[in-house]
Amino acid sequence: MKVKIAIVTMFGLAAVGAFGAVGANVKLQAQQKTQWDGVYTEDQAKRGEPLYAEKCSSCHGPDMNGGEMAPGLTGGEFQANWNDLTLGDLFERMRISMPQNNPGSLSRQQNADILAAMLKKGNYPAGKAELPTQTEMLNMVKFSSQKP
Ligand code: HEC
Repeated sequence: MKVKIAIVTMFGLAAVGAFGAVGANVKLQAQQKTQWDGVYTEDQAKRGEPLYAEKCSSCHGPDMNGGEMAPGLTGGEFQANWNDLTLGDLFERMRISMPQNNPGSLSRQQNADILAAMLKKGNYPAGKAELPTQTEMLNMVKFSSQKP
């Protein structure tokens, strides 16, 4: 009986310890939004889809899974490439170097809309506010391959 109480007590303490650690972790990440927090809208992704089809799909594939030369813009490899970077980093990469056959030809709004379509394709939830078009704002959203 005594042993049982000791075990329960120990477990209880361990649980409190673990919970405390999780609490601290949540606090640390509180300011940092991720793409899991509903950072684009359905409408925005719907605007981005035809743009993606027109401007990107010939190389990156109709399903964003990549083509002969170009990498996928969804899926494991893509997630690994961008893990812990920000949506601003990804946005700038698209804005400056893509579409590869005519780099820099899309507006900020078009790039943001395509990024929204990419997030939708990645099965990240939509939310109430659109992705902004300012890089500084997008830098405040982290890309996290694991749901935090
Ligand atoms: C003519 C072919 C072509 C077109 C069109 C094109 N891309 Fe690319 N894209 C590439 C290639 C090739 C790479 C990899 C080599 C490189 O980085 O230049 C790439 C890389 C990328 C990357 C980096 C992927 C990673 O995991 O690092 C992103 C993001 C991207 N493209 C987005 C887009 C978007 C968005 C569009 C449409 C606006 C687009 N691309 C249009 C060929 C293309």
